[in-house]
Amino acid sequence: MIHRQRLQQAQSSVDAAARQMQSQGRPRYHFLPPAFWMNDPNGCIYLNGRYHLYYQHYPYAPRWGSMHWGHASSSDLVHWQHHPIALAPSEVYDDHPEGGVFSGSTICRDGKLYAFYTGTANHGSGFEQTQCMAVSDDGGETFEKYADNPVITRLPDGASPDFRDPRILWHNGCYYMVLGNSLGGGAWHGGEGCIQLYRSENLTEWHYVGIPLRSRGELGTMWECPDLFPLDDKWVLTFSPMFNGNRKARYFVGTMDFEEPAFIIEQSGELDWGGEWYASQSMKDDKGRTILIAWQNCWDWMPWWKGFGPKQSENWCGNCALPRTVRLDDQHRLISLPIEELKSLRGRAVTCSDRKIGEKPWEIPCEDPECFEMVMVLDLSAATASSLELNLRSNEEKGTLLTVDIANRRLLFNRENADEYSTGIFNCDLQPEGSLLTLHIFSDISSIEIFTDGGRTCMSNTIYPVHGSQRNILCARGGTVVLQSITVWQMKGVW
Ligand code: FRU
Repeated sequence: MIHRQRLQQAQSSVDAAARQMQSQGRPRYHFLPPAFWMNDPNGCIYLNGRYHLYYQHYPYAPRWGSMHWGHASSSDLVHWQHHPIALAPSEVYDDHPEGGVFSGSTICRDGKLYAFYTGTANHGSGFEQTQCMAVSDDGGETFEKYADNPVITRLPDGASPDFRDPRILWHNGCYYMVLGNSLGGGAWHGGEGCIQLYRSENLTEWHYVGIPLRSRGELGTMWECPDLFPLDDKWVLTFSPMFNGNRKARYFVGTMDFEEPAFIIEQSGELDWGGEWYASQSMKDDKGRTILIAWQNCWDWMPWWKGFGPKQSENWCGNCALPRTVRLDDQHRLISLPIEELKSLRGRAVTCSDRKIGEKPWEIPCEDPECFEMVMVLDLSAATASSLELNLRSNEEKGTLLTVDIANRRLLFNRENADEYSTGIFNCDLQPEGSLLTLHIFSDISSIEIFTDGGRTCMSNTIYPVHGSQRNILCARGGTVVLQSITVWQMKGVW
């Protein structure tokens, strides 16, 4: 009863703000709520021919607050339909004003959709995080909270109260729940990140199994939003470690022992090297694809955090990065590529080929210099330049500088001068195979996403340029580079 009232209240608030919403400053082809705040994707699932996305949502202001689960669905991961808010804080175990219904996942069983989330409360002895369940028998539209919630209350020995973000999976005739946790001091006091594993036969009674993998001081203080999924004949573990320098989206590939809990790492890497790609969730679809969706923003504890962005003044804050499909290469490294369906947004294209780029700036011809998809193929074998600079979304004073450091095989994304707001320089190694380097770039009003090295290297960042006459300019330093081909598509908006 109270839950329903809270949902109605929240929905009226979002609907009223959405009616006033100006669209110009918002992303044109990225997912975001009708108004106000979002963070992590939650409960991502492909169900009855549609992709469902729930998400951490504060429906009263463009800032983080007591968390709800917003809900949207799509048949192609590109065009989204908003649904009524699915979960709101309403019970003693999930109604902390600075907590609420935290992140989690969903699983389908006998035609019902079960959502698992972390309820956060404070009964006087500090922040409590327990694991809760809600059930939908109308395909994920409305949920009833389970009467015997929470389904997990007690902390495992040695665990700090940072104990959240249940990821449910079905394996070998059992349900498993993977949770993010911090051992010892907790997320903010030097704890050590880990995942905790539980098992259940019926989704309501959960038995503790143990800790399959933990940090020993080198992998962050708390592992937020863990995800564990099979890919080919391996298991992939992804999570977002807190206080782990600029690495905030780790992946491990290996084998998983669910009995004597242990994740044996065979390969590892970064899902993303940019500033804004966090708390990803995977889902499998009927085409056999594994798709990852992540929040495109960052937290205040990240080294480059400056704020959640200037768009709060427009009554919204936060969006999802573009969905990616993932697979493993022959060395079991994760390959992340933008979903194929994005091609449906391609508008008019401009193409050039075989162009020598030197010190003299060359303006890349395109229909829309702000919202575009660009595929650029560079022939490094013929390069005499030490680097190539792509000044994105620039005018005479401002611009975002993407540098391909050819000599040192590095990629640098510098947004210090992108706009009136952004700061941060992000860089990573390039691992091109052979002499061709392909840069695949998506630009939307407030974001730039880069895929290169055949999907082994990705960078997702926000930028907030408001300056007029934006252009995309290319030049080489210390010699020339051959641009084998470049195509720039204007991107159609979906909102
Ligand atoms: C990660 C996170 C989760 C938590 C949620 C709260 O971004 O901190 O660990 O459940 O956000 O909104």
